[in-house]
Amino acid sequence: MDDAALLARLQELRQKIDELSYQYYTLDKPTVTDYEYDMMYRELENIEKAHPQWVTPDSPTQRVGSKISGGFAKYTHDRPMLSLGDVFSDDELREFDQRVRSDLGGEALSYVVELKIDGLAVNLIYEHGQFIRGVTRGDGRVGEDITNNVRTIRTIPLRIPSTSPHIEIRGEVYMPVASFMQLNAQRRDDELEPFANPRNAAAGSLRQLDPRITAQRKLAFFAYALGGAEDNTITSQEELLADLQKFHFQVNQEYRTFTNIEDVITFIHSWDDRRDSLPYATDGMVVKVNSFAQQHRLGNTVKIPRWAIAYKFPPEQAKTKVLGISVSLGRTGVLTPAADLKPVRLAGTTVKRATLHNEDFIKEKDIRIGDTVIIQKAGEIIPEVVRPVLADRTGKEQIFVMPKTCPSCGGPVVRVEGEAATRCINPDCPAVIGEKIAHFVSRDAMNIDGLGDAIVQQLLDHHLIQDVGDIYGLRREDLLGLEGFGEKSADNLLKAIETSKSAGLARVLFALGIRFVGAKAGRILAESFGSMEAIMAASTDELTALDDIGPRIADSIAAYFAVPAHGDLIRKLAAYGVVMTAEKRQLLNASFDGEIVVLTGKLQTMTRKEAEQAVELRGGKCTSSVTKKTTLVVIGSDPGSKYDKARTLGTPIITEEEFRDWLQRE
Ligand code: IVH
Repeated sequence: MDDAALLARLQELRQKIDELSYQYYTLDKPTVTDYEYDMMYRELENIEKAHPQWVTPDSPTQRVGSKISGGFAKYTHDRPMLSLGDVFSDDELREFDQRVRSDLGGEALSYVVELKIDGLAVNLIYEHGQFIRGVTRGDGRVGEDITNNVRTIRTIPLRIPSTSPHIEIRGEVYMPVASFMQLNAQRRDDELEPFANPRNAAAGSLRQLDPRITAQRKLAFFAYALGGAEDNTITSQEELLADLQKFHFQVNQEYRTFTNIEDVITFIHSWDDRRDSLPYATDGMVVKVNSFAQQHRLGNTVKIPRWAIAYKFPPEQAKTKVLGISVSLGRTGVLTPAADLKPVRLAGTTVKRATLHNEDFIKEKDIRIGDTVIIQKAGEIIPEVVRPVLADRTGKEQIFVMPKTCPSCGGPVVRVEGEAATRCINPDCPAVIGEKIAHFVSRDAMNIDGLGDAIVQQLLDHHLIQDVGDIYGLRREDLLGLEGFGEKSADNLLKAIETSKSAGLARVLFALGIRFVGAKAGRILAESFGSMEAIMAASTDELTALDDIGPRIADSIAAYFAVPAHGDLIRKLAAYGVVMTAEKRQLLNASFDGEIVVLTGKLQTMTRKEAEQAVELRGGKCTSSVTKKTTLVVIGSDPGSKYDKARTLGTPIITEEEFRDWLQRE
């Protein structure tokens, strides 16, 4: 292809990819397979790799940039980002309506009522249709420039069909509830403090200095307002929402238009018992005068518009009684107290327990056994105790004391100074072992299907296992002796155990439950060192030399292997045939990361072997035949049928010259 044709193809690909990601991320209705999408994406990447001068910031390949140093730059909004006045009752809504109507001299009007999304307000600046800047609300006047993080949000278009020299689109960045739950589960695995609610999680993710982290956090964006805009002819909020949607923004579809405040109120209350089932968190509703001309006449105060108001949902709270405080153990031996509550309905579910986190939390809130307490759902999701109702105290309530011994093994517990956690330090504590085993067999670890908590408990009770290594010594007759086991279920479990032996080093590392070694660290360690032995022999310096392995992880690994029993466990697992190796990938750089390459035809400047090695040293893999999995085909002279096959499949194809260029890239 000549340059003009290639440039045309590049533009076509960008348009197509933008459209497909809009269907996938914003509409949630993909029209092609992931594979087809990936292929187009790769083809675009190839063209851009070969012609870096053609890369523009609005290309779909430019969503994830690299880390910035220092903090975020300050940015002064062209027009301040106002906040909203709050109301908490129907009467206050009626007062708002009366004021608006009287200020407009009794004119007819309509209101648009939208959900108030609980996230972070962000201002997106587009010039001549190109996304050029994303800024947080900040104090309303000055925010922070978070452009590179905003780019990673797939539901934000990098280009919009607007010819305006400068248009600002405002809306809410939020984290969907499902992503929030997933993120917190991961953080608990990594022994990081979970986020209290989706809003905090979204805020924490947006303020990452490394956009690669933001990109992993699955944020989304609802557009709902216009900031400054030149050449703008939009006349109402309804029209604006329709236009934003045409621009391919995600617009929350729950908005309604009314001409009468009583209908507004009825609509707002229709959300009372269904707002919790939404896939995102809301904290109220926003009532906006529809007409922009009327908005303009009503004007703004310094802080808030006179034409809009936020109705805040009352926090969903309930009153109940603390029947007791029980303590459970995690796999790291941490004792976590929880309140056993008199069952109570709260925001659509029955709540029986609420975590009390640790000793300090209970002391600070002065929560006692027997207390009547107010509970609520944090971010409408996790039940938590807000406070005791002091007026209801009878004097019979008991102050909770953290046990001095482990509730499971009776061994001593310790609380290290400066830490909130109390831990059982007995390595043989059955509760801790039970949790460790549960982690070992879990899906992201060794993935042993059929070894649930109840069975693990039985195995421990029958002294059939003492540690995770013993799982591999289980025999058919051991299982048949347990409650609920028949021949078939015993065989299935044994098969699952056998299969897990080849799960690979990355999973074994994660499964061992070494503090701070999550699934990702396990993968990095496995691919860099290639074997358990090499990792055990590695110095802290060698470990921290890897990307993403910091001193905290390195020290924890060293501490883990310094315990003789852990060495014994590794040997035991190896003796049972658990695979402790991984394909080692000593990378020169990652320019071929994840590529599956087929070389075909005669290369002029290097041998086939040299080319293969070059790819592998850069994170790629070479295979001999072109299949759907192939991501790149390199052609020398006289390429044969592989070339034809690649063309039929639409696999990206590059010449030897392009290949050599690619090898030079970092
Ligand atoms: S309109 C001048 N609409 O609520 C009007 N705000 O307390 C500007 N919010 O800072 C806001 N959902 O972060 C508007 N549908 C919605 C909203 C919304 C959430 C947030 C926004 C704003 C805050 C005001």
